[in-house]
Amino acid sequence: MEQIEFNIPYAVGTETGHIQQVIANRHFASSGSFTAACTNFFKEKYGFKHAVLTNSCTDALEMCTVLMDLKPGDEVILPSYTFVSVANALLLHGARLVFADCKSGHPGIDEDSIEQLITSNTKAIIAVHYGGVALDIEKLCAISKKHNLILIEDAAHCFDAFYKGKPLGSFGDFATFSFQETKNVHCGEGGLLVINNEQYAHRAGIIAEKGTNRQDFNLGLVSRYEWVDVGASYKINELSAAFLFGQLRAAEAIQAKRLHIWNRYYNTLKPMADAGKFELPMLNGEGQHNAHIFYLTTNSAEERNALVTHLKAKGISAYFHYLSLHSSPYFAQTYSGPELPNTKRFSECLLRLPLHFQLTDAQVDYICSAIQSFYTTI
Ligand SMILES: Cc1ncc(COP(=O)(O)O)c(C=O)c1O
Repeated sequence: MEQIEFNIPYAVGTETGHIQQVIANRHFASSGSFTAACTNFFKEKYGFKHAVLTNSCTDALEMCTVLMDLKPGDEVILPSYTFVSVANALLLHGARLVFADCKSGHPGIDEDSIEQLITSNTKAIIAVHYGGVALDIEKLCAISKKHNLILIEDAAHCFDAFYKGKPLGSFGDFATFSFQETKNVHCGEGGLLVINNEQYAHRAGIIAEKGTNRQDFNLGLVSRYEWVDVGASYKINELSAAFLFGQLRAAEAIQAKRLHIWNRYYNTLKPMADAGKFELPMLNGEGQHNAHIFYLTTNSAEERNALVTHLKAKGISAYFHYLSLHSSPYFAQTYSGPELPNTKRFSECLLRLPLHFQLTDAQVDYICSAIQSFYTTI
């Protein structure tokens, strides 16, 4: 029986030549020519004026928490339906996590629930554009501005996704991207911090360089570099940047293929969704998503788990996604906020289908017919 993997990390083919170039250059550490080439790509294509390539999106999120000067007792509003990275970074600074629910039809944060969570201690809002589908980012910007809060777009899923023609990641004070191997373009592990608020730009370069002013030294602005602030080793190395640059150069073809697969799933499964068997992803009419994730939402947890088993028996790997942070083994005892019913629903009922560059039309059709056969038997 054919086995259909959930993800096969894509290698374009040009990465090897780039890596050989790194070896020839004898520059393996951070801040080399491939790092500069990737950074320029983001600047030119998306207008990200200040951007630091990091070892991961987790690193980029940690940098945000350092740049924000979080103090114990500061509150940060974030979704419970997200990856644990940002929650860890916030807790390390003694911040209080204030979890917001998802929207009813989409796993992204419910923008309308945020204002009631704001107190005099609130410092920031962190919002994830789930699956590269834009949140109502204008509303989030307006709320942050009104209450003088820092807005972070966790854009881990958002490479080449847009809202009203503007790239996701260009709205918040900060945005963080991931290039871990499950992402549309990747380098195994990698990330990007975009700094849209000028006041943090210079310090970001210091924090990323272990708290030294090495960036100024590299630019010839100081005669030696020394310890001037807190920081850590957040910058990507040249081997990873070289790999990533190969992916970035092929991004158009990658995106076109992923969008083709995504649309094929959507169109094939739509009649079943219209018949109420499950829900398909809800899109933002003002946005252009990037086909990062294709998922469906079942009517119950039991149904989702039975569907996973059914697909597995047919050789298909399909996975659920986040488990709510507020009810996790680490945090449940600490959490004293309200029930988050939409978060619970997506934790229990969301199922991601295989989506990667090598997936064929025939495989997508096979997966859709396996889903159809499941719903005719229950
Ligand atoms: C929303 C979100 N934020 C952050 C991360 C962490 O990304 P990374 O693995 O690059 O640290 C992930 C992981 O996929 C994620 O889904």
